[in-house]
Amino acid sequence: MPSKKLYIKTYGCQMNVYDSTRMTDVLAPLGYETTEQADEADMVILNTCHIREKAAEKVYSDLGRLRALKAEKGKAGSELILGVAGCVAQAEGEEISKRAPFVDMVFGPQTYHRLPEMVAKATGRQRVLDTEFPAEDKFDQLPAPTAQGVTAFLSIQEGCDKFCTFCVVPYTRGAEYSRPAASIIAEAKALVAQGVRELTLLGQNVNAYHGDGLDGGSWTFSRLVRALAEIDGLARIRYTTSHPNDMDDDLIAAHGDLPQLMPFLHLPVQSGSDEVLKAMNRKYKADDFRRIVERLRKNRPDLALSSDFIVGFPGESDADFEATMQLVRETTFALAYSFKYSRRPGTPASVIPKQLNEEVKSARLEALQGLLLQQQKDFNASLVGREIDVLFAEAGRHAGQAMGRSPYLQSVHVQVGDDARIRAMIGQIHKVRVIGASANSLTGELLNPQREKAA
Ligand code: 5AD
Ligand code: SF4
Repeated sequence: MPSKKLYIKTYGCQMNVYDSTRMTDVLAPLGYETTEQADEADMVILNTCHIREKAAEKVYSDLGRLRALKAEKGKAGSELILGVAGCVAQAEGEEISKRAPFVDMVFGPQTYHRLPEMVAKATGRQRVLDTEFPAEDKFDQLPAPTAQGVTAFLSIQEGCDKFCTFCVVPYTRGAEYSRPAASIIAEAKALVAQGVRELTLLGQNVNAYHGDGLDGGSWTFSRLVRALAEIDGLARIRYTTSHPNDMDDDLIAAHGDLPQLMPFLHLPVQSGSDEVLKAMNRKYKADDFRRIVERLRKNRPDLALSSDFIVGFPGESDADFEATMQLVRETTFALAYSFKYSRRPGTPASVIPKQLNEEVKSARLEALQGLLLQQQKDFNASLVGREIDVLFAEAGRHAGQAMGRSPYLQSVHVQVGDDARIRAMIGQIHKVRVIGASANSLTGELLNPQREKAA
């Protein structure tokens, strides 16, 4: 079969990153190989994000450029198939078809397994719009995953039933669905057999997992994690993104019991004000969050936290914002993502009358990000002089250097020797002493260069 080139541009969250790899897997049997350059592609797919306004706007500006590329290719006698996938496609499918009629395929996140049929139609110059939530299980229809290194994502849960008032996810990704444990464990084993040592379990609400267990009953998230921890060769397990209300006793205990569970947890809090949390429908108070963190840290003293924050939610007062700053000062985060509230059509918060103006939102975001960045730098600096486990993933930027990941997901650059030595270390975990830190990465030296640490 002649080889064709596929370029996928991924916006937004890790779920989309995972989905893009699965689309690549589905299209490989049709002869598509991935490329990093849009202008040499026979097919371009934009895997889009709808979570904030800016993310959605970018899609339309990218589409403008692709329209020109498609026209240019057409003149030269070759074809370019254009697809828009992901959450913008799900939410605004009809509108994309209208605003950008040169797009051949518009399809939502639940339909990737039907890509071969869509491509056949598009090749016959038929336009495709598929934003259904089909009855069949997408995951059962997808081919076995191909590992692309020593770390991999594994989607275990999709959708969300929580309906935070600011969020489009319950509308674009639909109701909560948990994959059966058997199919998750099989996918994990297949990835480990290909050399994967670290898995990140993905879901919009990953710790709300409640899938069919191996014993016929329903399994909780911690039960699933405990089963995955038994896979030989799987050294590290992470998960994202979680909700504070689903941090149940056994999951908190698992953070103490399972050395495979990395001591780095993404736990979005959104705000430190009880009033705002209530208006967001988060269903916890700031003190509930503090207590969860306290219990986690008691079980796993080296635990570091990452979180998400929204500033400028409708009605947020100066005192509400100060409550968020106070929570951040007390808790301390190793990493955080913070956003200005973005009004999303169709969500309950978008029609609250007390919308804040841009200046207030910008000033609050700047203050919060200043504090969070300082905490991130302080956290990285606090590791200097300490010994950490590094999972080596690839050659570093400089000769003789290898790059790996710390338990806290920072990249760690280590001078290790010649190319053969670097190649041999990929996929291995070694003890490293941290000798330098910046805001985003660490440098270190190997402590015991000869031996891999027993995983
Ligand atoms: N405006 C701003 N930020 C949002 N997020 C979700 N919806 C919105 C919105 N409408 C943020 C939340 C969430 C993260 C993925 O994106 O902080 O945790
Ligand atoms: Fe959105 Fe809230 Fe569901 Fe997270 S828990 S996906 S923020 S509705």
